[in-house]
Amino acid sequence: MTSAQSDPVKQQVATHWGRRAAHFDEDFGHSIRTAAERTAWDRIFDLVLAGRRGALDVLDAGCGTGFLSLELASRGHRVTGVDFAPAMLAEARRKAAQHGAEIRFEEADAEQLPFASGSFDLVVSRHVLWTLPHPEMAIDEWIRVLRPGGRLAVIDGQFDPNFSVHQNENARTSNEYAAIGDQLPFLGGRPREEIEVLLHAHGLVNVGSDPVRDLVEAQAERMVEEGRERQTRRRYVAWGEITG
Ligand SMILES: C[S@@+](CC[C@H](N)C(=O)[O-])C[C@H]1O[C@@H](n2cnc3c(N)ncnc32)[C@H](O)[C@@H]1O
Repeated sequence: MTSAQSDPVKQQVATHWGRRAAHFDEDFGHSIRTAAERTAWDRIFDLVLAGRRGALDVLDAGCGTGFLSLELASRGHRVTGVDFAPAMLAEARRKAAQHGAEIRFEEADAEQLPFASGSFDLVVSRHVLWTLPHPEMAIDEWIRVLRPGGRLAVIDGQFDPNFSVHQNENARTSNEYAAIGDQLPFLGGRPREEIEVLLHAHGLVNVGSDPVRDLVEAQAERMVEEGRERQTRRRYVAWGEITG
């Protein structure tokens, strides 16, 4: 039993993503669909990896269907992905098998990891911070499992009330989140600059961030190509390191 299974807020979150697992990759922005998006993501992974050489031990916290896990495994890293929604993990495992990728996917709470301190060189997380009841505890936990000199990279966005999302793809307006939204302190997302301050406050050094404008633009172009209304919203990748 993971620590999340006795927490009613986390149960609601896990139920939501379990319900969406089969179609998650089809929802807008979850997969790479165009050459411009590929170019943008390659640059983002360069920022995440910061020139580190050799095969790294990587943790993907809240891995979902394994987007970051698969991308990092394809770059030669040893990846572990954790999530507490079994259906998301099943999808991640299916995709890894399909791609012949050896990735360890485990059911676990991203806020209370079942790993010894200093187990990883890199911890990554995409679109997870906003949905945690204790995001600051999670940051401490992600830092705890890093080795000296290890790096944390968080990819997330900020909610924009003018950015319209298809009802089926909108977690915030779902029944599950309606019941618990007030217990998720980062629900609307936080500004990139605030995340940098937070990473500093949690003891990281060499903190930096990038607004991933190329990805935002590439996705906006795709909206137009697909006959949707062109929209942009604020996104970021933010990183920091623990002292070596
Ligand atoms: C928006 S999805 C993002 C999935 C994936 N990181 C991606 O970028 O495609 C959020 C994921 O975080 C997972 N999650 C949320 N809170 C979690 C927690 N406390 N422990 C483990 N997984 C969590 C959910 O089950 C869901 O799969």
